[in-house]
Amino acid sequence: MATVTVAGVVLAAGKGTRFRSDLAKVLHPAAGRTILRWVLEALRPLELDRVVVVVGHQGEAVAAEAEAAGLPGLRTVRQDEQNGTGHALRAAVDSGALQGAETVLVLPGDVPLLTAAPLRALLDAHDGHGTLLTTELDDPTGYGRVLRDAGGVRAIVEERDATEEQRGVREVGVSIYAFAHKALAEALHRLSTDNAQGEEYLTDVVEIMAPAGVGAILIEPGEVAGVNDRVQLADAGGVLRRRILERLMRDGVTVVDPATTYVAPEVTVGPDAVLLPGTHLEGATSVGAGATVGPGARLVDTTVEDGASVTYSVLLGARVGPGAKVGPFAYLRPGARLERGAKVGTFVEVKGSVIGEDSKVPHLSYIGDTTIGRGANVGAATVTVNYDGFEKHQTVIGDGARIGSDTMLVAPVSVGADAYTGAGSVITKDVPEGSLAVERGEQRVIEGYAERKRKRMAGDDAAV
Ligand code: UD1
Ligand code: CA
Repeated sequence: MATVTVAGVVLAAGKGTRFRSDLAKVLHPAAGRTILRWVLEALRPLELDRVVVVVGHQGEAVAAEAEAAGLPGLRTVRQDEQNGTGHALRAAVDSGALQGAETVLVLPGDVPLLTAAPLRALLDAHDGHGTLLTTELDDPTGYGRVLRDAGGVRAIVEERDATEEQRGVREVGVSIYAFAHKALAEALHRLSTDNAQGEEYLTDVVEIMAPAGVGAILIEPGEVAGVNDRVQLADAGGVLRRRILERLMRDGVTVVDPATTYVAPEVTVGPDAVLLPGTHLEGATSVGAGATVGPGARLVDTTVEDGASVTYSVLLGARVGPGAKVGPFAYLRPGARLERGAKVGTFVEVKGSVIGEDSKVPHLSYIGDTTIGRGANVGAATVTVNYDGFEKHQTVIGDGARIGSDTMLVAPVSVGADAYTGAGSVITKDVPEGSLAVERGEQRVIEGYAERKRKRMAGDDAAV
């Protein structure tokens, strides 16, 4: 058999009126990806030579999102006026972007639950002019009803154009079709706008092709539900999220409470890692084997290595080394890096800094633009004073250094290996290796102060 070139077309030009949104429907996210991106990911395993995304409403943003998926052979075509699904597909066909394709696989842009399997089944079954996927719904409201006669599928009638009797049909079209390119091009030019919505309906192609025979494959509704409003968006998001979590659980990750665990599709999690309730893993985050995250953690573009733990904390663009500990209540910002066995504890913020192996910043500190060596300890309430109102400056803390509680390290400044700073010191000059730097006023002790104060308050002037 000769190879049949299949081109995919995704219809994504519509506004999605029922979303009541300034943002195009297909750009709304569900479970860490836009709706459009989910659809393109369903196409990816098919390795089509050409995928055309029809854009219109917020066309530039939708085109940019389509291109960001990096599908080989992806092109975008504009539908300037949103004159219906048939009009949208005609824009793709007339643009010449499908040239060379024998078969055109059409899908809507609003089916985030779709996977490659039903598309493969459709392509396998397709021969002749047209084949479509259909499903049966208990409540078919809003969908085009499939009309059959003895010869097979005869037409699809839109809800608004259907008779009472036709509305009773539970088999519906899901806007997913395989067409012979040539027959499709001819049929699209015969579409009229003589219907309730005054649009060129793609569904009418079915009636046009019916005399030549149109095939239909009935599938389960789970993957092909269109998302038409934000209630359906939330439902779809829940299904997608659950799928991601099930994949992780099967790969050996413990997810204590899937209902409150949010993991984006690109995230990787190693075996025997434990995700506790209230965990959010977003973007390009990875969690190593045996690590524990949560309860209550949000990690964005963050790497947590094997055996590390993160509790009640927010980490953005951070790196947590093997066996390191974060939280509770830490905030790690971009460029925060904890080496093996390091600890960043309660109410500590770290940015653009390395916390060396086994070093600890346990309580109430800000560490910014700092390099801390191995085995150092930073006392409670220490602050690296990295900003002079104009520029950021670096702080260096050597191996084994002991920073006393409430030290202000006014950068640029360095504290040598094994050096100490006295609690409450404002350190503005470099501290040599092995030394102690103390900067504070001499303590005065005023004997009997409390007694005298009490008498004064009681009005005993003689006591003053
Ligand atoms: C469509 C079908 C309906 C089917 C349902 C399945 C038609 C006329 N109706 O209805 O039979 O049961 O899908 O979900 O085809 N689009 C464009 N340009 C346009 C109009 C729409 O690109 O001018 C795109 C939309 O962005 C969307 C897709 O086509 O991704 C489907 O459009 P939508 O308005 O959601 O169609 P439905 O009313 O759901
Ligand atoms: Ca739809």
